[in-house]
Amino acid sequence: MNGSMPETIAFDIYGTLIDTHGLIDTLRNHAVDNAALFSQLWRQKQLEYSFRRGLMRQYKDFSICTAQALEYTCQSFGVALTQQETDRLLSAYRALPIFEDTSEGLKNAKDAGFRLYAFSNGKKTDIVQLFDHADISQFFIDIISVDEVQSFKPDPAVYHHFLEKASAKTESAWMVSANPFDVIGAVSAGMKSVWVQRSPDVIMDPWEVVPTVVIHRLSGLVDAINGWRQA
Ligand code: LAC
Repeated sequence: MNGSMPETIAFDIYGTLIDTHGLIDTLRNHAVDNAALFSQLWRQKQLEYSFRRGLMRQYKDFSICTAQALEYTCQSFGVALTQQETDRLLSAYRALPIFEDTSEGLKNAKDAGFRLYAFSNGKKTDIVQLFDHADISQFFIDIISVDEVQSFKPDPAVYHHFLEKASAKTESAWMVSANPFDVIGAVSAGMKSVWVQRSPDVIMDPWEVVPTVVIHRLSGLVDAINGWRQA
């Protein structure tokens, strides 16, 4: 790594390291038709609920947003789940799979000397479960959750909380996220950001804020940051 002070990386979790659409087969087993569309609406509503709760200052933790979004999506698709089926799906959400490039990307970044943190809308206990299941906790110094400030991304307060808790300098801290709203939130709070665009179908919001670097696979992270430094 160049320079003396090791740089900090905040990794977004849901949608970046962990595949939020990893339950499509499970949904099919629950007789959900159009399981891929169901999964998309579930995720979209989960995020919308977090944004709205942040704006309304009516914080409830992210697992509540997930559960209420599931209920909304079931109603929208006319799917009736028993309480037991709902509980099973929500517990499967705590064991969602990682993307195939996740471990390699984390290992490269750690080996290159970066300080790795998880930084998520999710509660720490939920992230611990996901990480244990995926066997990736060894890469991280700590898990920092928005729950500690009772607000959600992209509230600037949560990025400031991250920087303080990780003892990171704003200008040498990177947010790595596949979620455009998270990239824009981090850059707006003064951080640098790597946008992980795994598919060309995902579009960066055409705002006045752009990611510092764009990659298409997490395994390209270190090269992309080094390339940006040398440019
Ligand atoms: C997270 C999101 C953005 O993990 O889903 O913070």
